[in-house]
Amino acid sequence: MKRIVVFGATSAIAQACARIWAGRHDALFLVGRNAERLEAVAGDLKVRGAPKVEFLAHDLADLEAHERLVGRADEALGGIDVALVAHGVLGDQMLLREDISLAVESIHVNFVSAASLLSHLANLMEKRKGGTIAVISSVAGDRGRQSNYVYGAAKAGLSAFASGLRNRLQKSGVSVVTIKPGFVDTPMTAHIAKKGPLFAHPDAVGRAIVRAIDRRKDVVYVPGFWRPIMWVIRSIPERIFKRLSL
Ligand SMILES: NC(=O)c1ccc[n+]([C@@H]2O[C@H](COP(=O)([O-])OP(=O)(O)OC[C@H]3O[C@@H](n4cnc5c(N)ncnc54)[C@H](OP(=O)(O)O)[C@@H]3O)[C@@H](O)[C@H]2O)c1
Repeated sequence: MKRIVVFGATSAIAQACARIWAGRHDALFLVGRNAERLEAVAGDLKVRGAPKVEFLAHDLADLEAHERLVGRADEALGGIDVALVAHGVLGDQMLLREDISLAVESIHVNFVSAASLLSHLANLMEKRKGGTIAVISSVAGDRGRQSNYVYGAAKAGLSAFASGLRNRLQKSGVSVVTIKPGFVDTPMTAHIAKKGPLFAHPDAVGRAIVRAIDRRKDVVYVPGFWRPIMWVIRSIPERIFKRLSL
C-alpha cells in the first residue's frame, strides 16, 4: 500500500489517477479548494477500494499554508510515498493580455504555488531519503505561443524547476516526475467546442501518469506522440516562428 497525497485533487486528470490508486488499495490524502467536491471525490475513492481517504479544503494560492498542508498530509498518512501536484488554471489569454493582474495571478497559481509545494515536499522527502514527487506541467511550456504564453511561461518555469529539483534530489533517492500532457478533454478545455484527434481522454492520461510514477520516469509526454511534435515545434527557428499564427 502506497501513501499518496494529491494537490488539486478535484482536477479531472488527478481524479483519474486517484481512481487507479484507490483500486490498488493505496491510502490517499486529497487537497483542493472546494470542500463539497472533495467530499464527493473522497466518497467515490473509498467505494473503489482506498482503505483510507482524508481530505482538506484550502486555496493553494495561499502559500503560507503550504508547509502546514504538507505536514497534515504526512501526519494523516504516516509518511508520504508519492505526491502529485496537479492544480492549475488555463485562463483566457485575451483577458490576461488586458488585465495584467489576472496574468500575474495565473502565474502565481500555475508556477509560484506549485513550486512552493514542490519545495516543501522536496525538503521532507530529502530528509526521509525516498519518495516520488510528480508534477503536471504542460507541452505549452515547451515554447511560448501568442495564444497562451502566460500559461505556457508558468508551465515552462515549472518544468525547469522540476528539472532542478530532480538533479538535487537524485542522490537522496527521491524521484521527480515531470508530466507534460497535450490537449486533454477536461473542464479546463470545456470552452473548446470542437475537440480534434489530438485530444486525449483523462482516463488514458491518468493511466500514463500512474505508469510514469511507478517507473520513476523523469519527463513524460502524454500521450507519447507529443514528444516528437514538440521537438519539431522547438526546432523551428525564431525568425520563422514569430510569424506563425499559433
Ligand atoms: N486539460 C488539458 O488540456 C491540460 C493540458 C496540459 C496540462 N494540463 C494540466 O493538468 C492539470 C490538471 O488540469 P485538468 O485538465 O484536470 O483540469 P481541471 O479539471 O480544470 O483541474 C484543474 C484543477 O486545479 C484546481 N485549482 C485551480 N486553482 C486552484 C487553487 N488556487 N487552489 C486549489 N486548487 C486549484 C481546480 O480546482 P476547482 O475545481 O476548485 O476549480 C481543479 O481541480 C493542470 O495543472 C493543468 O494545467 C491540462
